Amino acid sequence: MSDKDPLQDDRGNKDISITNPSGRGEIPTTLRSGATSKVDGEPFLVGENMTGGYGRGPDILNDCTVAVDRGEIAVIVGPNGAGKSTAMKAIFGMLNMHGGRVVLDGEDISALSPQDRVARGMGFVPQVRNIFPSMTVEENLEMGAFIRRDDFRTTMEQVYDLFPILKEKRRQPAGELSGGQRQQVAVGRALMTQPKVLMLDEPTAGVSPIVMDELFDRIIEVARTGIPILMVEQNARQALEIADKGYVLVTGRNAHTGTGKELLADPEVRRSFLGG
Ligand SMILES: Nc1ncnc2c1ncn2[C@@H]1O[C@H](COP(=O)(O)OP(=O)(O)OP(=O)(O)O)[C@@H](O)[C@H]1O
Ligand SMILES: [Mg+2]
Repeated sequence: MSDKDPLQDDRGNKDISITNPSGRGEIPTTLRSGATSKVDGEPFLVGENMTGGYGRGPDILNDCTVAVDRGEIAVIVGPNGAGKSTAMKAIFGMLNMHGGRVVLDGEDISALSPQDRVARGMGFVPQVRNIFPSMTVEENLEMGAFIRRDDFRTTMEQVYDLFPILKEKRRQPAGELSGGQRQQVAVGRALMTQPKVLMLDEPTAGVSPIVMDELFDRIIEVARTGIPILMVEQNARQALEIADKGYVLVTGRNAHTGTGKELLADPEVRRSFLGG
């Protein structure tokens, strides 16, 4: 047997020739604010040794590390309640962390607010309440562009090119769309900020296998434009097939880490998390 995984080769995004390793350009210095410090030799985005929880409650994350590098798709999987969403919220600055740090593009951004992280180039699609249901599709996309002072129409056209159904339905309230289409609105909204990295929490939740495949294809397409993607997925097997890097989290800790291919081949991961 060849050591090449056909799925990985077909669907992964290792083809550097079509990616833009430096991402979508620089954030203007006028948008930079808050205290950060330069860190070298780190992945593009890393939540490192994160420990913390909600309010005064117990720690949900325990020394948890997840990262994504340029040109890559990284996937976080694990059982319900493992802390996957909590890890994403921690990276986005929505958690009380008392250990660890978050580094984006060489800068320690642990002290920044979520708004400042968006300004630094973080796009985040949360697991729940990720669209404005009573607003039209187009208004949702416009809301996504809230931090921009320039003309965002080109970006909107790019979003419509990526998700043509959204252009068709642009005057409809987003809440009237199907589950898969609403997820497209949510991803489109995040893309409107021209992020340097995209974080997706369960982008395929509640959609049919066909729609899931389609969404994964669009996500790969986004990654190939040079935007690294860190995503949580319940469809672990399918997600690991397209993942350059995979993390299995259990009770807020790193249980297994490897390439998507390695994790898919790991007997313990298969037995415990992939149904054999
Ligand atoms: N806002 C919150 N306040 C307090 N505890 C919370 C909050 N959100 C989540 N938790 C707790 O944190 C733990 C991890 O939850 P989290 O949502 O991160 O898990 P998950 O891995 O994303 O699960 P799922 O697969 O169901 O989405 C759970 O015990 C949960 O009850
Ligand atoms: Mg979750």
